[in-house]
Amino acid sequence: MLNKKIVELLNDQINKELYSAYLYLDFANYYADEGLNGFANWYEVQAKEERDHAFMFRRYLIDNGVRVEFKAIDKPDKVFKNHLTPLEIGYEHEQYVTSLITAIYHEAVSQKDYRTMQFLDWFIKEQGEEETNADDMIKKMKLFGGDAKGLYALNQELSARVYAPSTTGPAM
Ligand code: FEO
Repeated sequence: MLNKKIVELLNDQINKELYSAYLYLDFANYYADEGLNGFANWYEVQAKEERDHAFMFRRYLIDNGVRVEFKAIDKPDKVFKNHLTPLEIGYEHEQYVTSLITAIYHEAVSQKDYRTMQFLDWFIKEQGEEETNADDMIKKMKLFGGDAKGLYALNQELSARVYAPSTTGPAM
């Protein structure tokens, strides 16, 4: 049986992952409105991955006999000054999510909850990748996004991202 504190943290993480999906869809709304459909596509795919993360936490709790409890999802209320702002907010957000996953891992370690540690291992790796991707987006935007041709090419590149459910992650 999972410890009460661990259940609480994992249950909260469902909400945080759904908020992430909501936040990234909001980025996609902004970019679609700006005529940057490639950027919008990239964040739509990202939103689907975040939704999947929420499903993984939910599945893990259910498989451990927990009655999952949902809370309200915050409204994404970020203000975008320019095309770079969402990318910077995205990077900060991923660092925040990493801190949440790390906190759950800490709790699992202190409880000697090896099952939850093993479940979280995939997320630890995933967060490393997500932070790198978010940082790369900022770097590319700073390098190429400054002129119309560069922005056009970057938008084209980002339009190629395709959603695929994870084949390595925990069950959904
Ligand atoms: Fe589910 Fe981007 O962390």
